[in-house]
Amino acid sequence: MCMRHMFRQKAMLVLAIMAILGVEVVLTTQPAAAAEVVVVYTARHYGQEPLFEAFTKQTGIEMQSFDGSPSELFERLKAEGDKTPADVLISVDAGNLWNAAQAGLLAKIDSSALQVNIPAHLRDPENRWFGLSVRARTIMYNTGKVKPEELSTYEALGDPKWKNRLCLRSSNHIYNQSLLATMIKRFGEAKVEAIVRSLVANNPTLIDSDTRILESIAAGECDVGITNSYYLGRLLAKDPNFPVAPFWANQQTTGTHVNISGAGVTAHAKHRANAIKLIEFLSRPEAQQLLVNSNFEYPANPQTPVHPLLAKWGPFKQDDINVAAAGELQAAAIKLADRAGYK
Ligand SMILES: [Fe+2]
Repeated sequence: MCMRHMFRQKAMLVLAIMAILGVEVVLTTQPAAAAEVVVVYTARHYGQEPLFEAFTKQTGIEMQSFDGSPSELFERLKAEGDKTPADVLISVDAGNLWNAAQAGLLAKIDSSALQVNIPAHLRDPENRWFGLSVRARTIMYNTGKVKPEELSTYEALGDPKWKNRLCLRSSNHIYNQSLLATMIKRFGEAKVEAIVRSLVANNPTLIDSDTRILESIAAGECDVGITNSYYLGRLLAKDPNFPVAPFWANQQTTGTHVNISGAGVTAHAKHRANAIKLIEFLSRPEAQQLLVNSNFEYPANPQTPVHPLLAKWGPFKQDDINVAAAGELQAAAIKLADRAGYK
């Protein structure tokens, strides 16, 4: 008797015993089709629920998502290796996505939809991650104390006229590391170090929260600062008279510094096709609006209308240097800040 017959006989015997014991056995000739699914690790915490529901409704693909901070998700993906259940990583700050790609946690994807929907400076040149929302980090000023004509560039905040009037985030936060990294890419280390020294010489108040910087500007504790624009969007949504406005930095020169939140397909995705479908879905204008509006961010896809509150601030020129610079030069930015005495 061949092995297959023996196995089949044994299986029949087991089934017969189960039937005697009253266990209900349903025999099917085909295994049931597995439900379509995509598993997401996400470090974004705003406006995703309606978005994921819309994706499932449109595609029939079930979403499973797990939250964590960028570093938690990075460590988790690294520890899980090829056993990871994650198909998609969504993270904030290009520096974090760049680190994940460098560590081999993200796979290249070839998608013409993403090439069209996401501008080149907001995605990995090697197609391992794609920006989905844009975060502009710009100059903020007290509307009662500063005239926009007095402002121009990030560099010009080093002018002595701003002495004791500046609020800045400390240099250990990734937002400012990314800003400095981009400036290094643009201007070179020597020039950026001189700029940072001039900012430090103006005796800035260092505050560890973008929201608190804006509140300090509103309270008159400082006149100008640098923050991500969505924090101002949130405050203005609560109080339309909040006395702070954005000034679009470097419009005559390099453009305002932007960063992203974005996504990539994991290197060991078990549902790679679904993962690509999800990221493509997130890059389309309908999904982009759901993604960015709840947090007052800018859409990465320029075909998407911006939130009415942001429309009031007018259009601005983005620095179109690739946001990958935030990762590439992060270590250099940290060292430079240290040398220049920027705590
Ligand atoms: Fe933020």
